[in-house]
Amino acid sequence: MTTTTAGEQTAGYMFDNATDEAANQLRFLGEILDLGTRRLLTEAGLTRGWNVTDVGAGAGTLTAWLSDQIAPAGHVTAVDLDPRHIPTGPNITVRTGDIRHLTLEGAQQAVVARLVLMHLPEREQVLAQLMGALAPGGVLVVADWDCTWRDMIRRSPSPRATELIERFHDALIGFGESRGADMGWAKRAPEVMMRAGLVDVDSHIESRSWRGGTGICLLHRSNSIQREAQLLDAGMTRDELTELREVLMDPELLLSGYLMHTTVGRRPAHT
Ligand SMILES: C[S@@+](CC[C@H](N)C(=O)[O-])C[C@H]1O[C@@H](n2cnc3c(N)ncnc32)[C@H](O)[C@@H]1O
Repeated sequence: MTTTTAGEQTAGYMFDNATDEAANQLRFLGEILDLGTRRLLTEAGLTRGWNVTDVGAGAGTLTAWLSDQIAPAGHVTAVDLDPRHIPTGPNITVRTGDIRHLTLEGAQQAVVARLVLMHLPEREQVLAQLMGALAPGGVLVVADWDCTWRDMIRRSPSPRATELIERFHDALIGFGESRGADMGWAKRAPEVMMRAGLVDVDSHIESRSWRGGTGICLLHRSNSIQREAQLLDAGMTRDELTELREVLMDPELLLSGYLMHTTVGRRPAHT
């Protein structure tokens, strides 16, 4: 599979697990999203003995939970470009690599990819690969944020705070798009999964609001630290970034998260 390029960099993931801030960023993702993803996996039938692959496992918060759910007979394979934050365990195998170039082990009862496909220009080919790893009747869970929905400020402490948050979003999302991310892919995932032959495809959309200093506000703050250079390139100043980070800690701020679309589909039992 050819990896497309954006500018001089290989297109793909817009963050970097090797940065000092990455452990915070990935932990915040788990805190914001794990409850919802766990609920949907449980509804999809996750149970002891399943073999599951967690693609782009990040901090491995889901990996660790999955390993508890399927132990002792089941097994979790956690795949990541940079797996340094993934915990180990007796029923966890960690694989390092680019999902665009890996062959996954087959016969999985579930494959989960949260906040990965939106970043990869080759998302439809990767989705076909993930489907190929499923056992007949196995479940594919694709979870991504719809970042095209921008009506996220429920309460702002000031017009200046609103302006800084909007400019931060514009700059961060612009950077992601320059790396090949599709900020609206989550909305198309159900159609693509149905077209690819999955059955019982169902999509759940979820968001909640967070006060300054919690949840999504901490994630935005962390992203603004991890991608400071790119935000400066996009025209924000260091003083504005300092001000933005103060705003994101202000309890007078109430922000919704991006809309999380979790799409679940099943490989037909007889294929
Ligand atoms: C936004 S984080 C999401 C982490 C975790 N899935 C979660 O939702 O909490 C994306 C993760 O996918 C990994 N990743 C990005 N592109 C990848 C690729 N092409 N192959 C494998 N892993 C990739 C990153 O290294 C990172 O750990």
